[in-house]
Amino acid sequence: MFFKFAILLFFLIVNFAASEDLGFVYNGFKNAPHLSLDGVADVTENGLLRLTNDTKQRTGHAFYSDRLQFKITGKNSMVSFSTSFVFAIVSEYRGLSGHGIAFVVAPHRELPGALPSQYLGLFNESTNGNITNHVVAVELDTIENSEFDIDNNHVGIDINELKSVKSSSAMYFTSNGNSKNMSLISGEPMLVWIEYDGLKKQLNVTLAPINIPKPDIPLLSLSQDLSTIVNDSVYVGFSSSTGSVLTSHYILGWSFKINGEAQAIDLSRLPKLPRRGPKKKSKMLSIGLPIVVPFFVLVMVFGVFFIIRRKRKFAELIEDWEVNYVTQRFSYKDLYIATKGFKEKGLLGIGGFGKVYKGVLPTSKIQIAVKKVSHDSRQGIREFIAEIVSIGQLRHRNLVQLMGYCRRQGELLLVYDYMPNGSLDRFIFRSSNSASSCSSSPPVLNWTQRFQIIKGVASGLFYLHEGWEQVVIHRDIKASNVLLDAEMNARVGDFGLARLYDRGTNPQTTNVVGTLGYIAPELTRTGKATTSTDVFGFGAFLLEVGCGRRPIELQKSETEEEEEGVILVDWVYSCLSKGGILQTSDPNLKNGYDIEEMELVLKLGLLCSHNDPKARPTMRQVVQYLEKDAPLPQDEMLALEIGDSNLATNVMVTHGESCEDFAMSYPGSVDEVFAGSSSSAVDSLLSGSRS
Ligand SMILES: *[C@@H]1O[C@H](CO)[C@@H](O)[C@H](O)[C@H]1NC(C)=O
Ligand SMILES: *[C@@H]1O[C@H](CO)[C@@H](O)[C@H](O)[C@H]1NC(C)=O
Ligand SMILES: *[C@@H]1O[C@H](CO)[C@@H](O)[C@H](O)[C@H]1NC(C)=O
Ligand SMILES: *[C@@H]1O[C@H](CO)[C@@H](O)[C@H](O)[C@H]1NC(C)=O
Ligand SMILES: *[C@@H]1O[C@H](CO)[C@@H](O)[C@H](O)[C@H]1NC(C)=O
Ligand SMILES: *[C@@H]1O[C@H](CO)[C@@H](O)[C@H](O)[C@H]1NC(C)=O
Repeated sequence: MFFKFAILLFFLIVNFAASEDLGFVYNGFKNAPHLSLDGVADVTENGLLRLTNDTKQRTGHAFYSDRLQFKITGKNSMVSFSTSFVFAIVSEYRGLSGHGIAFVVAPHRELPGALPSQYLGLFNESTNGNITNHVVAVELDTIENSEFDIDNNHVGIDINELKSVKSSSAMYFTSNGNSKNMSLISGEPMLVWIEYDGLKKQLNVTLAPINIPKPDIPLLSLSQDLSTIVNDSVYVGFSSSTGSVLTSHYILGWSFKINGEAQAIDLSRLPKLPRRGPKKKSKMLSIGLPIVVPFFVLVMVFGVFFIIRRKRKFAELIEDWEVNYVTQRFSYKDLYIATKGFKEKGLLGIGGFGKVYKGVLPTSKIQIAVKKVSHDSRQGIREFIAEIVSIGQLRHRNLVQLMGYCRRQGELLLVYDYMPNGSLDRFIFRSSNSASSCSSSPPVLNWTQRFQIIKGVASGLFYLHEGWEQVVIHRDIKASNVLLDAEMNARVGDFGLARLYDRGTNPQTTNVVGTLGYIAPELTRTGKATTSTDVFGFGAFLLEVGCGRRPIELQKSETEEEEEGVILVDWVYSCLSKGGILQTSDPNLKNGYDIEEMELVLKLGLLCSHNDPKARPTMRQVVQYLEKDAPLPQDEMLALEIGDSNLATNVMVTHGESCEDFAMSYPGSVDEVFAGSSSSAVDSLLSGSRS
């Protein structure tokens, strides 16, 4: 009796242990149990798991709702698992889609803070790459993001970040080893198998069309011990995100098994994908025709009238070549709705290139800033758009993200991420110029924040100069072009924009874009912006932040009624040579700063403002100095390096208001403008800005 009981108990225990080797299969998701959805994910009437439902810039998650034990607590060895699923990516346009699907093993079901688009609903820019994510994912990615991806049609294994540890273009291998390409966005259902062997510590991923047996050769095979990455108990499921093209990401069936091979999905039982192409015509027309016709004509007349009016209101300019940029293109109507018709109320500011409006995108509710730049459809707009779009692919935590654009007659609209804290100059030049700011002034930034911002700007600019396949020159670095996000991180805005004005229409004139006080002397001579003209602007920016003053300020001189311009660089330099550089620090800081860092910033500011471009450091060196990885030259050296005669500017502004930003055009050489204190010349420059 006891013996029988013991056997029973034994079986119970064995069974209990075995029940941990969980497995499940969903042949369609109609009334599916144990499914936890969030974001835009839903299950359609016929049982398709729709991770994103024809939306832009959204995420959707679907997880098996129970935690799975992947490791015995305290032990490092991990289970094996195997999963397969059928997916389909159906988009508004054939041949264009975004962004993709990922199979995910994660410690949470919700993936908090995750962003759409290139972040695939997995991470955001601050969590991406952090080992505390404990996330393993297999991505099916349909957009190429220059920071993370190899192409716009690939499968990748992601560990805690979107840059895949292993990836390959979508394809499968036949038994004789030939490869066959596949298109993830074909709209056809496809199968993926993901297998992890806990002993061999190997992860295989295989992709194939639905009508062929599982290929023997996996597409990706990664030898890595996942036990060090994932948590003891995890959630498994899917994450998906859309970008700018309406895309539906579907899972049709899913099978999963711990310590064993996942049961095959019954393809015959899978739900059907929605029909694509034109809808069937209604029979209504033929039946009620005689009655409806007169009424119809009336409606038509009104309809046409309204459509024409509406068309005009929302008219855009689209040319053939822009078909390549569909994903970056916003409709004017969306932007019009987002900004509530570009009302003055939503005006964030007037920058060097145009007015900036705040908006909220209608479907995704994402906050945006829309910059309206006027342009005549001059030549070069095509190259400019190409450049803007390619620059829009730059991703860096210290750059303001360009989301896309829209074009109308004579008008270009650029759509950016919205930066809740506005531009840095509001925080720095609070009291000095109360006339220009209408709202209440924000709090003074303390030194730690300022130094952080400086480092951020340096890092963003360094990325523009060296971090990408193409050198991007900013051309207009200054405090008002540095924006602050919700966490007060510095983000450089308006990069690349100056190019629009740089393409001169009139070969007789050279266009120099920039802001007085930030323009390197050689730029005014050659008209050629380089990375070192950017460094010059950055030098002026450093002094601005350190001293809390603008590069050129007007002060009432003691003797005369007239105002005269004080050149910040000259002043800081003269204090340096008298050994009192710290006197120039922003009085608003009330001496609450790190002396060493303040000195570093001021001296570096001087060094970057050197007259001779060759003597200026590169942004790489600047970052090293700021990170204290390399020491600045000693004081005496610095003094020699900079030298009185090498001081950058000798401009005197002898009257008028402060020097706002402007794009100036001038014929031939401008040396004479900058040589003396010829106020009339400067006047004409200033007035040139108000066009
Ligand atoms: C997508 O899902 C959202 C939220 O569930 C819903 O409001 C919207 O109508 C859906 N759109 C489509 C095209 O089904
Ligand atoms: C990123 O996600 C984390 C949570 O995972 C959140 O705390 C943080 O605010 C998010 N950051 C951004 C920039 O969205
Ligand atoms: C990673 O995330 C943790 C917790 O969210 C945070 O404390 C840490 O600073 C992050 N590390 C990096 C390098 O961002
Ligand atoms: C398959 O795709 C790769 C990469 O996208 C490409 O280089 C190759 O030419 C394609 N092969 C065929 C047969 O289309
Ligand atoms: C991965 O694929 C290789 C090559 O086909 C195979 O030898 C290995 O057993 C596979 N590993 C797993 C975990 O399936
Ligand atoms: C995952 O594991 C890490 C390290 O083992 C632990 O710090 C973290 O709290 C775990 N997360 C969850 C959600 O259990």
